[in-house]
Amino acid sequence: MCGIVGFVGKEEAAPILLDGLERMEYRGYDSAGIAVRSEQEGLQVKKAKGRLHVLRELTRDGAELSGTLGIGHTRWATHGEPNDVNAHPHISENGRIALVHNGIIENYMEIKEHLIKQGVTFASDTDSEVVAQLLEFHYHECGNMLEAVGRVLRRIEGSYAFGIICADYPNALIAARKDSPLILGYGENGNFLASDVTAVIKHTRDVVYMDDGEIAVLTADSIDVFDDELIPVDKKHHTVDWDVSAAEKGGYPHFMLKEIMEQPEAVRKTVSPRIRDGRVVLDDVALTADYVKEISRIYIIACGSSYHVGMVSKYNWERLLRRPVEVCLASEFRYSAPLVDEHTLVVVISQSGETLDTMAAMREAKRLGGRTLAIVNVVGSSIARESDDVLYTWAGPEIAVATTKAYSTQLVLMDLVGLYLADVLGTVESAEYSAIVEELAVLPEKLEKVLAHVEDIQYFASRYFNHDSIFFIGRNLDCAMGMEGSLKLKEISYIHSEAYASGELKHGTISLIEHGTLVVALGTYRALLDKSISNVVEVKARGAEVLAVTTDEFRGKMEKTADAVIAVPESHPVVQPSLGVVPLQLFAYYVALQRGCDIDKPRNLAKSVTVE
Ligand code: AGP
Repeated sequence: MCGIVGFVGKEEAAPILLDGLERMEYRGYDSAGIAVRSEQEGLQVKKAKGRLHVLRELTRDGAELSGTLGIGHTRWATHGEPNDVNAHPHISENGRIALVHNGIIENYMEIKEHLIKQGVTFASDTDSEVVAQLLEFHYHECGNMLEAVGRVLRRIEGSYAFGIICADYPNALIAARKDSPLILGYGENGNFLASDVTAVIKHTRDVVYMDDGEIAVLTADSIDVFDDELIPVDKKHHTVDWDVSAAEKGGYPHFMLKEIMEQPEAVRKTVSPRIRDGRVVLDDVALTADYVKEISRIYIIACGSSYHVGMVSKYNWERLLRRPVEVCLASEFRYSAPLVDEHTLVVVISQSGETLDTMAAMREAKRLGGRTLAIVNVVGSSIARESDDVLYTWAGPEIAVATTKAYSTQLVLMDLVGLYLADVLGTVESAEYSAIVEELAVLPEKLEKVLAHVEDIQYFASRYFNHDSIFFIGRNLDCAMGMEGSLKLKEISYIHSEAYASGELKHGTISLIEHGTLVVALGTYRALLDKSISNVVEVKARGAEVLAVTTDEFRGKMEKTADAVIAVPESHPVVQPSLGVVPLQLFAYYVALQRGCDIDKPRNLAKSVTVE
């Protein structure tokens, strides 16, 4: 959840660290801090509660700290409230070691008690400070920093990505990782560590992904990586295939709006290389036809919006594959005695590829003998590397906390995989197969048409932004799509919202509908349109104000019942949610804008959730 960055080189470190933190602020933004070391000033530390601009002001954009070696951190609080003291970097008691940490140290209490007994005084309430103090303890014992780090790693339990500097090692930065992302970057004027490529992309595209248990020592001219026994490891270099402009707003007021607008291109990049001569081609997976034919059960595991992609895919895959597909929240999966064996395909969906719940569920599925296929956006992320197979959504970097383009690319990639499997199994008619492939190929143009009507949605947002409770209702695929519309709205506008299967409303929840309640009624699934309209009539009869989302073909019919209608182009039912969701994303965006919310960094949230 937090973001860490480090630099050692031939330039002033502080401005580089602040810039890196700014690009990673979406990972956590309740406080931030940097530590820089110079020959003259020694170790200098500045920390501040609040957004990064507070730290920028405090340090005069970094000018207050001099030195070419440093570490920085942007925090999403777990242990200890967000304040200046709990902000990272944490400093050991003698002031000679500074450390930034992303993750959670599970046995920190026990270590803290031990150190207190040894006379160590703690400044903060965090689990991370315990590691800084323990490092000093072991460094004092063995007199070698690398050895001390090794000893600490053997002692702590939990997840971590660390950046460490020590006053006695003026030219070295130490990194270590387990279950929290960490990349190392080779720059011209120095080397970097960071939680995320976005922090270093301005300086280098040449990166190495650290693996669990590894420790790295960075100097201005070298990076050496060691395993947990401190034996050197040869690491493969990767070239990041996007540049700094992809991680900037490019004239848009918010990353979220930019990313919504990028959807046609992101979908095109995800789909077009995988369709050849009208057939779906998945070159990058090793699922053999023999294995596919033996699949008896499919699990889709994910969190949040990625889970909602799973909900849509359940309908689509069961239609195409004629196999049971179960969608599980990753946080529930491993505690639910899942029925996984070697004939179970477990599909994990994750934009970041670092979500801890999803990762843990995937490991459990593997342990039980299932075969895992990951649908991931971030290249080289932990889930991508640990899964048996991985397919990337080519959405590019997604910065806004509320996902949009990653969701859309996950949807289409799941459609492609569904078609691929159905083809192998022989469970899809060739006419239907071709119709879906054709619709996926023209989807980018249809998405552009939806985005061309952004003003209509802006208008509806200005009409409805002051409602304090909003329901999303729909049937079948519309119900799954409504879950995403509702989550989008609540996470960025803070309006209470619920998604409901239209037919289920009358079994209880309809009691909440009263005069003026806003109901967003989704009617894009043609097979159940008349039933959906009946449900609109039911809520209208109880005083609801209804904003309907339907297709061009059914606009007229909807207009007879709903108070306002948004229409999207028609597509094959399997592909239709990819179009229907876009007005919901835009509606959430403009409602949040009207309410003056911090759209890209909504309260209490972080982009990548690396705690359980
Ligand atoms: C969506 O807008 C969210 N911010 C959140 O629900 C997200 O989809 C979820 O945390 C899963 O993240 P992942 O796809 O990176 O695993």
